[in-house]
Amino acid sequence: MIILITGGSSGLGRSIVEELSKNKENYVFFTFNKSEENARKICERNENVKGIKCDLTIKNELDDFINNIKTLKIDVLINNFYSWPENPLMPGTFLTGHFHKIDENTFIEEFKKNIIPTVLITQEIIKFFRSRKKGKILTTLTSFLNSPSIGSSIYVSNKNYLKSLCKVWGVENKKYNITSHYFSPSLMITGHTSKMDKRLIDQMIKSSELNEIMTVDHVSKKISKFLNTDDLDNSNQILL
Ligand SMILES: NC(=O)c1ccc[n+]([C@@H]2O[C@H](COP(=O)([O-])OP(=O)(O)OC[C@H]3O[C@@H](n4cnc5c(N)ncnc54)[C@H](OP(=O)(O)O)[C@@H]3O)[C@@H](O)[C@H]2O)c1
Repeated sequence: MIILITGGSSGLGRSIVEELSKNKENYVFFTFNKSEENARKICERNENVKGIKCDLTIKNELDDFINNIKTLKIDVLINNFYSWPENPLMPGTFLTGHFHKIDENTFIEEFKKNIIPTVLITQEIIKFFRSRKKGKILTTLTSFLNSPSIGSSIYVSNKNYLKSLCKVWGVENKKYNITSHYFSPSLMITGHTSKMDKRLIDQMIKSSELNEIMTVDHVSKKISKFLNTDDLDNSNQILL
């Protein structure tokens, strides 16, 4: 399988890249932005992995990436990147502020940064998958969709937007043998969340359904298993 994962240089994405590349019949492309050093190390360790540098929030860089995306000839797209909001008071979180205090431009900017790149990449990949009459799309959501916390309105609504798109992608492309699935990890310690205050981590764990931290290893093994078992039931959800 040839796989493309967005945001594969750190955290969950990195773990998925490492897990999928253990199978030497796979070839894994991943995108990265700031974590050049990580990306170099991942590629050094695995000859069947290639990192592509691209800031997905910069129009020219995104356009260049999308213009070349068909040449990768991928079988699987994993939409995973998230450009986290800046919050100096609560680093390592996805929290901005109370819904009623958020400026309209923040909604627009966060949508542009996080949803539009995924939309444009997936549109181009679907065109390619349709020409080949096969393909798989996987998208990383979050368990916080079921138990949103205070200050999470932008993150949770953006992920809900993606969840709806995941379902539409599946419905619109079924006859082209294209599937679309999502998975919703709970709190994991990653490059981003490791900056979070430990008290907040405890609080988030307590209010989560799982009541414990999920590991990136656990999630990446489930994704690998899913891709290998061709589990095509009618649900769009990959259970973790
Ligand atoms: N951590 C959690 O607790 C948790 C829970 C549920 C769901 N998730 C989801 O899991 C996914 C990964 O999160 P994570 O915690 O693993 O985060 P992470 O460690 O911060 O990794 C984020 C990845 O996205 C890339 N990225 C960020 N901004 C980018 C940009 N502007 N252009 C290109 N790439 C960019 C990063 O690349 P560089 O580092 O190279 O810039 C990195 O590879 C996200 O979709 C998140 O919503 C996370």
